[in-house]
Amino acid sequence: GARPRALSGIQPTAGSFHLGNYLGAIRQYVALQETHDAFYMVVDLHAITVPQDPAELRANTRLAAAQLLAAGLDPDRCTLFIQSHVPEHAQLGWVMNCLTGFGEASRMTQFKDKSAKQGADRATVGLFTYPVLQVADILLYQADAVPVGEDQRQHIELTRDLAERFNTRFGDTFSVPAPHIVKEVAKIYDLQDPAVKMSKSASTPKGLINLLDEPKATAKKVKSAVTDTDTVIRFDPVEKPGVSNLLTIYSTLTGRTVAELEKEYEGKMYGALKTDLAEVMVEFVTPFRTRTQEFLDDPAALDAILAQGAHKARAVAAKTLAAAYDRIGF
Ligand code: ADP
Ligand code: NA
Repeated sequence: GARPRALSGIQPTAGSFHLGNYLGAIRQYVALQETHDAFYMVVDLHAITVPQDPAELRANTRLAAAQLLAAGLDPDRCTLFIQSHVPEHAQLGWVMNCLTGFGEASRMTQFKDKSAKQGADRATVGLFTYPVLQVADILLYQADAVPVGEDQRQHIELTRDLAERFNTRFGDTFSVPAPHIVKEVAKIYDLQDPAVKMSKSASTPKGLINLLDEPKATAKKVKSAVTDTDTVIRFDPVEKPGVSNLLTIYSTLTGRTVAELEKEYEGKMYGALKTDLAEVMVEFVTPFRTRTQEFLDDPAALDAILAQGAHKARAVAAKTLAAAYDRIGF
């Protein structure tokens, strides 16, 4: 039978994705293309909810696509595209805005967090309604599975509510996606402060592993990761958050279980774990960097991949939008 459809978007971040993005999200994208009819997009429309320099936005969007390809997304096995190349996102986004209650949108905690960070006067209406654009992103593809983190759960609930609201008011048009993704995904912490999530904005420079950094610098960061004064290599996120974080990274990158690793490092020092993990990391980031650069060095080939992706995405999105427009009375 037909494969279930998956849809996910990732923001074009400045410079490089970090290890948390890879282990917590991009790796799942690569796996899902084997089991799902998967659509992945670089969400440049979402990026402009905060001010962007045009040249940087364009470069970061291409860099994000190049990194997704380098990580293993295969344009013949999934649909990879840039959100702004598919105008139906903005078009259905408007329709969804008109179905969303002002109070309903006001309850989105992500907006409260993000606007608080910027200062209430600086926050745009676009930032306020970005969860509604996300609803359109999902519904356009009639997605069954939406791989998102816990922080996005409320937005999936909104997607379900709006899909049901539209279907009730205008007739069955949208499939209602699963409330959340049950898949267990790794959560990666700052190497210097394992109490906080590894993140572009919140991490310390030495605690953040950027995938495109010099492999030597990355190895150095791993070797100077914070552990504890004990010597036992054991997975215990409460008592030993630093060591546990290293074990999570090690396990996720190699596919070996944490239990196997604990056994292998029984009686060994933290230094041995860090040295080996540094090597595993270098083996991962070195070809990743090379492949990313190869995609950037051939802009015509990258353009062709993204044009093909937009073409495939539009075939689905245009059909959904046409049905929705027709039912609305356009
Ligand atoms: P950041 O927090 O650095 O701004 P984003 O919020 O843009 O990163 O996250 C993009 C994707 O990467 C999301 O799917 C998110 O869940 C995942 N992700 C980000 N940081 C981590 C992390 N430390 N561990 C696991 N997954 C993460
Ligand atoms: Na973020």
